[in-house]
Amino acid sequence: MNDVIRDTFGRPLRNLRVSVTDRCNLRCQYCMPEEHYVWLPKPSLLTFEEIARVIRIFSHVGVDKVRLTGGEPLLRQGIVELVRMIGEIPPIKDLAMTTNGVTLSGFAADLRSAGLKRMTVSLDTLQESRFREFTRRSKLADVVSALTELQRLGFTGTKINTVVTRGFNDDELLDLLDFARSVGAELRFIEYMDVGGATQWSMEKVVPRTEILTAIGAHRGVIQPVARKDDSTAPAERYHLEDGTTFGIIASTTEPFCRTCDRARLTADGMLFTCLYADQGFDLREPIRDGATDDDLVQLVAGQWRQRSDRGAEERKSTSDRGVLYQISSLRSDPHKEMHTRGG
Ligand code: GTP
Ligand code: 5AD
Ligand code: SF4
Repeated sequence: MNDVIRDTFGRPLRNLRVSVTDRCNLRCQYCMPEEHYVWLPKPSLLTFEEIARVIRIFSHVGVDKVRLTGGEPLLRQGIVELVRMIGEIPPIKDLAMTTNGVTLSGFAADLRSAGLKRMTVSLDTLQESRFREFTRRSKLADVVSALTELQRLGFTGTKINTVVTRGFNDDELLDLLDFARSVGAELRFIEYMDVGGATQWSMEKVVPRTEILTAIGAHRGVIQPVARKDDSTAPAERYHLEDGTTFGIIASTTEPFCRTCDRARLTADGMLFTCLYADQGFDLREPIRDGATDDDLVQLVAGQWRQRSDRGAEERKSTSDRGVLYQISSLRSDPHKEMHTRGG
């Protein structure tokens, strides 16, 4: 079976983001600013066989694109083996990973041999003191050398994700563009989002796409938008500079793209979320461990997608007095609300 299923707005399911661990070795301000977290219990984590099975189930209902996320996905023990297992699922044409890059140097060659095609590395500043202040760890040099290593190994399509925060890194846009180009990567500026876990969020700290473009244009001349392919559902709008640099902007906060959103998310403990902002998920682990057949699971997933009506970022945009999404007490009582649990 390989039917295209559609949600209540006619959106197909194509893209599955799989969080393989909720743990992280950084504490970025926009994602994990707190001192203490409630972690998912270890026995609740899906095994590699269970993850591969779920991906196979999703491939039967239209998914051909998988992205491994975390927390920090490279902290999951045996991650290279999982990549190899997913690489052997034929309908999955595009397998990628979003990592903070801290331990990536040691994994890059093995990940590539195991079939990982594309890497996205998060990097918000090129200044050591800022990196330390912002992530509460001194790991900038490791991230920079990982990006150099990717280039040396011949990875193509590498992206760098930069969340732009007013008063923190909004004076580094040009430096980051130049750095990305020097390591053969495409930079994407991301608007700071009011997702669960962003407990320091405020609209004042968001630097909107329009402002990012103005700041770059003032120093780099004409900015040419790159036309999207007709079937593109990528969150980034891409732009071209006269000097040959291409970059993207993900304007999830001020210009949400819910209308074309074809993503589902799976947490490390097997909860299915059909929106980054969804209040509730759907537990797939229980049926899996209770002996559900593949067909049962296909029906469950298809049913969830058919009844999907999420458009979280658009609803947030129309919220008056927009502020922090969840208070800390609410995050502690349900860690599935955290961005680092549902995979950024
Ligand atoms: P590709 O299209 O494969 O490059 O993946 P991607 O751009 O979705 O991957 P990545 O993990 O790098 O995500 C980039 C950023 O887009 C995230 O950090 C989020 O800020 C934003 N984003 C990702 N998924 C969603 C989503 O479902 N909804 C919204 N509103 N924003 C998202
Ligand atoms: N706003 C925007 N992007 C975020 N990410 C995490 N938290 C936020 C937020 N509050 C992004 C990171 C990383 C990806 C995993 O999620 O930049 O690239
Ligand atoms: Fe930073 Fe990603 Fe870790 Fe969050 S999950 S603290 S964004 S590296």
